[in-house]
Amino acid sequence: MTQEKFELMKTRARISGVGMYVPEKVVTNKDMEKFVETSDEWIIERTGIRERRFVSEGEANSDLAVKAVEKALAQAKVDPSDIELIIVATVTPDMFFPSTACVVQNRIGAKNAWAFDLSGACSGFLYALMTGAQFIETGRHKKVLVIGADVMSSIIDFQDRATCILFGDGAGAALLEPAEDEETGILDSILAADGSGGTFLYMPAGGSRRPATVETVQNRMHYVHQDGRNVFKFAVKFMADVSLELLNRNGFTPPDVKLYVPHQANLRIINAAKDRLKLRDDQVAVNIDRYANTTSATIPSCLAEAQECGRLKKGDLVVLASFGAGFTWGSVLMRWGM
Ligand SMILES: CC(C)(COP(=O)(O)OP(=O)(O)OC[C@H]1O[C@@H](n2cnc3c(N)ncnc32)[C@H](O)[C@@H]1OP(=O)(O)O)[C@@H](O)C(=O)NCCC(=O)NCCS
Repeated sequence: MTQEKFELMKTRARISGVGMYVPEKVVTNKDMEKFVETSDEWIIERTGIRERRFVSEGEANSDLAVKAVEKALAQAKVDPSDIELIIVATVTPDMFFPSTACVVQNRIGAKNAWAFDLSGACSGFLYALMTGAQFIETGRHKKVLVIGADVMSSIIDFQDRATCILFGDGAGAALLEPAEDEETGILDSILAADGSGGTFLYMPAGGSRRPATVETVQNRMHYVHQDGRNVFKFAVKFMADVSLELLNRNGFTPPDVKLYVPHQANLRIINAAKDRLKLRDDQVAVNIDRYANTTSATIPSCLAEAQECGRLKKGDLVVLASFGAGFTWGSVLMRWGM
């Protein structure tokens, strides 16, 4: 079958329910001053972050994920036993294995679903969304649960002031089902990776290359290491460019967009993308001020908030955009289907 013929025949995937959850513990910039030499003013001015949420002792990734999922399923009015596939995008699973997706599958009673984790860092949700969408488009599945959940407080170095102030913990979940009409659902996407950017943002130890030893722990190699300036530079360019390319090839321009949902890494990165796309403030989703960078959870949490406060209605043009470790980046274009 040719690509054109498949495009004509395929069923579009739409988001039919979306939910988010952040842990209860609020950590303000003033609180961060207790760990590192920093200030509320510096953090707000350089990142736009005012506070973030951190898990309490004993609280893990799947605890956040399950709560986000419960909201998404309630919204879609779908029973867990009807779910056929669960994908959890994360870089901070409960443990290396079994996958957090299997933990979630068991906890919510999705006994008819297969389940796996996906490692796409800050692009994880978009990677998972488009992976899940393929199963709807081909007709293989009718209900796919896509989750972005991260507990960044478990891997940030509270002695590294340029990194620890940036991140927070949270989860977002979206249920994918076939679109009900010919207008709504996921229209197109561009996903990309460039592994040559790998050492700009990574965790040096804990995998098979550098298994955990006393030395790796003493050298603080189980934490996020990053070259913030380079990550910033690439994020600004790639996130906006990929969204523009996606709009262009589908015959849209930025004024057509109801909501642009960029990954929430730094308000200055979001604003640079907004300027490059010539978008107005009211077209851009922002929650970094309250939650900081929750890695794979930023985009679904913005979508859940937008849905909850009535910012989106059926048929609205929505563009998602991400950039993260790998490097990985991408953009997804959809007509809101709820
Ligand atoms: C990390 C980041 C906030 C730093 O902001 P910046 O404006 O680039 O700041 P610089 O790195 O140029 O540092 C400026 C100064 O601030 C200092 N600084 C860094 N973090 C600080 C903090 N939390 N508080 C106070 N000062 C800080 C630096 O040490 C540096 O001091 P120096 O000039 O004496 O050396 C910014 O580069 C960034 O957000 N990068 C992207 C990171 C990211 O998004 N990662 C995840 C991607 S998914």
